Amino acid sequence: MTYQIAGIVGSLSGSSVNRALLGGIVQLGADMGLNIVEAPIADLPLFSQEREADFPAAARTLKDAIEHADGIIIVTPEYNRSIPGVLKNAIDWASRPWGQNSFAGKPTAIVGGSGGALRTALAQRHLRDILSFLDARTVNQPEAYVQMTPGLLGPDGAVADPGTRELLTAWLTAFRGLLEQSA
Ligand code: FNR
Repeated sequence: MTYQIAGIVGSLSGSSVNRALLGGIVQLGADMGLNIVEAPIADLPLFSQEREADFPAAARTLKDAIEHADGIIIVTPEYNRSIPGVLKNAIDWASRPWGQNSFAGKPTAIVGGSGGALRTALAQRHLRDILSFLDARTVNQPEAYVQMTPGLLGPDGAVADPGTRELLTAWLTAFRGLLEQSA
């Protein structure tokens, strides 16, 4: 069985290393029955509760992508020891209106890459708190922290570093297990 997965990248940068990392994960996932397609967040307005009554089209599109997917992969940088505001904004939109939280019960796997030694560990900690409140079903182990070193991704965008490939394969295997339990 092939699962449909929505990928959310917590960066709007055109040269985002995390979007490149998602590209490598897409390739790994294709061999494991995971069809991962990015759900864009760049066109979302800044959240304001007053706008919920006339829900913006971009936010509705994001909610539809999450709700129609079997599971979610979030790939995020760390900003100031937390998640970037653009990712929090996207999650806030998807969690609303009240009672229509799109993350509820959704199998979700999180990963992040940075050049630093902490490898997004603190951003992922905060993200877990948010997803726990939203009642998403997260992959707890293995945790996926990636140090973005030169050559980690090959010229074709595939994950070339053997250790990272092994880690991400184990992480996707755990995600697949969660998807199977939730089906
Ligand atoms: C960063 N960066 C960063 N890195 C890190 O490991 N821990 C951190 O707390 C921060 N904080 C931070 C704040 C802000 C405002 C910026 C712009 C950057 C560096 C960050 O990891 C790096 O810019 C990545 O390349 C961002 O990911 P994308 O956008 O390339 O995917």
